[in-house]
Amino acid sequence: MTTTKTTSQAMAAAGPKLQVRGISKRYGDSYALRASDLELRQGEFVTLLGPSGSGKTTLLMMIAGLVQPSSGDIWIDGQVATGQQPYQRDVGMMFQSYALFPHMTVGENIAFPLKMKGMPKDRIRDAVQEVLEQIKLPSVRNRFPSELSGGQQQRIALARSIVHRPSVVLMDEPLAALDKSLRTHMQMEIRQLQQALNITVLYVTHDQEEAMTMSDRICLMNEARIEQMAAPSELYFAPRTVFAAGFLGESNTIEGRVEAVRNGMAEVRHAHGMLEGRLMNTANPGDACRVMVRPEAIRMLAPDRLTPGMNALPATVASHVICGATSRTLLHTPGGVGLSAVQLTCRSTPAPTGPVMAAFTAQDCLVFGAQA
Ligand SMILES: Nc1ncnc2c1ncn2[C@@H]1O[C@H](COP(=O)(O)OP(=O)(O)O)[C@@H](O)[C@H]1O
Ligand SMILES: [Mg+2]
Repeated sequence: MTTTKTTSQAMAAAGPKLQVRGISKRYGDSYALRASDLELRQGEFVTLLGPSGSGKTTLLMMIAGLVQPSSGDIWIDGQVATGQQPYQRDVGMMFQSYALFPHMTVGENIAFPLKMKGMPKDRIRDAVQEVLEQIKLPSVRNRFPSELSGGQQQRIALARSIVHRPSVVLMDEPLAALDKSLRTHMQMEIRQLQQALNITVLYVTHDQEEAMTMSDRICLMNEARIEQMAAPSELYFAPRTVFAAGFLGESNTIEGRVEAVRNGMAEVRHAHGMLEGRLMNTANPGDACRVMVRPEAIRMLAPDRLTPGMNALPATVASHVICGATSRTLLHTPGGVGLSAVQLTCRSTPAPTGPVMAAFTAQDCLVFGAQA
C-alpha cells in the first residue's frame, strides 16, 4: 500500500499542476469559449492574454469552479476537479471582484481560506505571520484594509491567495485598477514572489506588455479560442497568425501573392517587386498572402549600402519624431504602402531625409497565407 501511495504521489508531483482538456462554455447559441486544452507545469507562470470578450475570464472561472463548463474536464494536481465545488478545489484566487473584506482586519482576511479549510488557530497565526513577512508587510496584521494604500491592499490580496499553499493560483486582471507606476512595481513583486516560492500561476490580462514582462508562457486568446500558446519571445518572433503578429507589438503589413515556397521560406510578389520571408503557416504558389515586418526590423539605407539578399523597398521619409528612447520614421513607398520604422534614439545619427531604401532581412519578414 505504501509503495502504491508513494508512486501515485510521485506521479502527481511529476505531472502537470493544472490540466484542462476539451473545456468549453456555451451561452445559448454562442460560445464564450470553444473546446480548449491547457497544461501548467509546477512553478510555471502562464498568462491568458487577449482582447476583451475573448473568453479569458470564462476559462479562469471554470477552473475555479465558479462557472460550470458545457464540456471537458479539469485536473488539479492530478485530481479530477470537474464537478467539485469551488472550496473543494486546491486553488488560490486573486480577482478584481474578489476584493478584501472591509469589516475584517488584514490578519482575518488572510486567515479566511485557512479557516475554511479548518486549520487549527495556532497554525493559522503562524501561517498568516509567515506570509505577511513574505510580502514585506510584517506589522499590518491588526489594521483594516481602509487603513492601507492601494498597493498594500493588493499585496494583502496576494497573500490571501497563496497562504494555504494551493496547487494553482488564479489571478484575473488583479492590477487593472492601479496606476501605471504602481502596476509596474506590482508586476515585478508578484513575479519575484512567484519565483521565490515556486508557485504555479494562471494569470489573466489584456495588456500585452504585462503578459510579456511576467510570463513563462503566454496563451493568446481570440474570439473564444486559444490562438497560440508559447514563450513570450516565440510569440513575438514566430507568431502563427496575423492576429498574433498584430496583437503583440506593432507590425507593418504588405499585401502580396506567393510565387514560390522552399525550405520554409516564401518568395512573394508585391506592388514594388519581390520579397523573401519566413512562411508562418501553409501557403501554395498563387495564394494571396500578407507580409508582416516589425518597425524595429526596418533599416533606412542609401541604395549603395544594401547587402545582397536583403529585402528592400524604395521609400521617401514622410516624418521623423523622437518619442524618447526610440525614434519613429514614417515612410511612403511610390505604390502607396506606408511603413513605420523604429530605431533607438541616437544624438550622433542625423534624422533620415529624402529617398531611402527600407531594408529588412528575410528572417525578419513573416509571410502568412490568406487563411491565417
Ligand atoms: N453569464 C454570461 N452570459 C452570457 N454571455 C456571457 C456570460 N459571461 C460571459 N459571456 C460572454 O462570453 C464571452 C467571453 O467573456 P469573458 O470570458 O468575460 O471574456 P474576457 O474575460 O476575455 O473579456 C463574451 O462575449 C461575453 O459576453
Ligand atoms: Mg475578463
